[in-house]
Amino acid sequence: MAIPTTRTKDVAQIIINQDLCNGCGLCVSVCKDYGLEVINGKISQAANPIFGCIGCGHCMSVCPNGAIRIEGRFTSADHLFPLPRKEDATTYLSYLNLLQRRRSIREFKDKPVDRELIDKILAAATQAPMGLPPSDTNVLVLDTAEKVRKFSFDYCDYLKSLKWMTSGWFLMLARPFWGKENDLLFRNFVRQMMDIFISAREKGENMVTYDAPAALYFYGSPFSDPADPIIAATYAMLAAESLGLGTCMLGGMHPFIQSGGAAAKFRKNQGIRFKSKEGLILIIGHPAVKYKMGITRSFANVDFV
Ligand SMILES: Cc1cc2nc3c(=O)[nH]c(=O)nc-3n(C[C@H](O)[C@H](O)[C@H](O)COP(=O)(O)O)c2cc1C
Repeated sequence: MAIPTTRTKDVAQIIINQDLCNGCGLCVSVCKDYGLEVINGKISQAANPIFGCIGCGHCMSVCPNGAIRIEGRFTSADHLFPLPRKEDATTYLSYLNLLQRRRSIREFKDKPVDRELIDKILAAATQAPMGLPPSDTNVLVLDTAEKVRKFSFDYCDYLKSLKWMTSGWFLMLARPFWGKENDLLFRNFVRQMMDIFISAREKGENMVTYDAPAALYFYGSPFSDPADPIIAATYAMLAAESLGLGTCMLGGMHPFIQSGGAAAKFRKNQGIRFKSKEGLILIIGHPAVKYKMGITRSFANVDFV
């Protein structure tokens, strides 16, 4: 068995055309599975790779002669495309400008996000790196304001059943097990967040996803690296920004829909396929607010050691 994912548990096939191989060894140098070697000036499969081919495709995308193909693990020579010209890729300055202009948007025009834009965002996000190919990131697409609202209200109704998690007695009992930091977060953030979500919902207001006209929920699988869906969501956010849309990441839902029977029922009802270590919702829409100024931010620590 190869490295398992929900999509495949097999290794990919390495198909070599020795007639086309010039023995340059570029494929050997990029294969970190140590799956290839040059013997007598031609490429061959190595006898003892580490995992077996994971299907990253680096060998076939670096080969100058098309002498190597990978088939399997959702990778194929058919997926190769000519690289866009470097001059057509972004510069540091235009990328920085995009980042500096971005603000989290929670006020949206009453205007749908066209399917074409959602497809463009998803196409960009699939280019995100992943812990191991094939990506085990899943995306739940809510492409109308009605779907986003229903998802959010269902979540609030579900959240009501978790109110005990913010009660004084539970937090007192939990503190020795999950630590001071979690205790502080629950007392000073989660409790208020739950209260406002639920009370707003009772008044018919959506404080969870701010009535965005579209939302993409990126989540992983029991196999995937927890960072995978977060990176994909970040790519999607920047793609949406480049298309002139406003976005906001929402982290408050994912952790609360992972454990227990009620969470499993919520996931099933919403079409969420797996529980996963990490996930993030990205709300998207045409912004109803324009910011005049950027804000300089800082990291907690940057230590050059
Ligand atoms: C991982 C993550 C989770 C977030 N979760 C929420 C959320 O649940 N609700 C919300 O309104 N904003 C959420 N945000 C948006 C942040 O509050 C926002 O990025 C921050 O206030 C800074 O504002 P800016 O994005 O405009 O720079 C989240 C952002 C990130 C990166």
